[in-house]
Amino acid sequence: MILSIESSCDDSSIAITSIETNKLIYHKKISQELEHSVYGGVVPELAARLHIEALPKILEECEEYFKDLKAIAVTTAPGLSVTLTEGVMMAKALAITLKLPLISVNHLKGHIYSLFIQKEEVLPCTVLLVSGGHTQIIEANSLNDMKIVGSTSDDSFGESFDKVSKMLGLGYPGGPAVQENALLGDDNAYAFPIPLRQSPNIEYSFSGLKNAVRVAILKEQEEQKSQTLDIDTIQNICASFQKTAAEHILMKLKKYFKTSNPSTVAIVGGASANIHLREKVQKLCNEFKAELILSDLQFCSDNAAMIGRVAVEQYKKEEFVSFTNIDVEARLNNF
Ligand code: KG4
Ligand code: ZN
Repeated sequence: MILSIESSCDDSSIAITSIETNKLIYHKKISQELEHSVYGGVVPELAARLHIEALPKILEECEEYFKDLKAIAVTTAPGLSVTLTEGVMMAKALAITLKLPLISVNHLKGHIYSLFIQKEEVLPCTVLLVSGGHTQIIEANSLNDMKIVGSTSDDSFGESFDKVSKMLGLGYPGGPAVQENALLGDDNAYAFPIPLRQSPNIEYSFSGLKNAVRVAILKEQEEQKSQTLDIDTIQNICASFQKTAAEHILMKLKKYFKTSNPSTVAIVGGASANIHLREKVQKLCNEFKAELILSDLQFCSDNAAMIGRVAVEQYKKEEFVSFTNIDVEARLNNF
């Protein structure tokens, strides 16, 4: 079995995965959403302190499996450097004490392998990764052959939901809150511009859309003579924003499909839980006769099970790192 640790952002999580069967033997995650919600986003130092409390608590529950472990895996990149460091320190201590090899796991690969938790790996696959930190189209051919063919030049898809949510006073994380409000709103109420509509490139940008939403909110606040907008306005803004953000993703994805015609497509990352986006991508896949695969909803957001699943493949290839060579690469945005 492999014990894996994830602490790249605001989720403390540990998993134990069987190397032979990919079975998830143990998995626990403690999220810090409540603690960060009051600040409208993740505060790195607070997140690191909360990992220091949460990780040892989870680890205590895993002691019975220590005797069966063959390796310790940990997310080393990308993420917040102060929080990644907490996971890496725990992984090092465990590997030294239990005399086990260390596996350094890329968080982005983790999101891709969330598709294969308790399953066999199905690659090649074109992956749309939408999370709080990333928006990428990736050609995932095999464990060590992954190519980014499109990414965002500023905010990510999930981050734009967080920022819109913050502006509307809906709290953090914004994705679920905006999605819920959007369900009851009119998505034609505001004509927000679709970003990079005229550009031939396969690239994303969400800062202009975020700004258009900000301007609309300011205008409504002025008209309603209140900082807190009425519920109809909030729902209409959420619905119009969500539709435009998804339309931006879809337009570029369609451009990619036209040239590359992928047979298998996946959506991964925390924001892949977005139902509107899932429906739109499913329609596009039907149009291009591509198969769409999705991770279980519980494994869309950050978790150690996906890190453990990558680690199983790395273990089989003997991709180990030494205690002295394991480095945190907070800003690494590829593989
Ligand atoms: O993958 P994840 O847990 O963390 C990162 O690696 O960034 O993704 C978290 C992001 C947050 O920005 C959150 O607002 C977004 O995913 N998210 C959503 C939804 N659920 C979570 N965005 C849009 N719609 C959702 N339903
Ligand atoms: Zn993530």
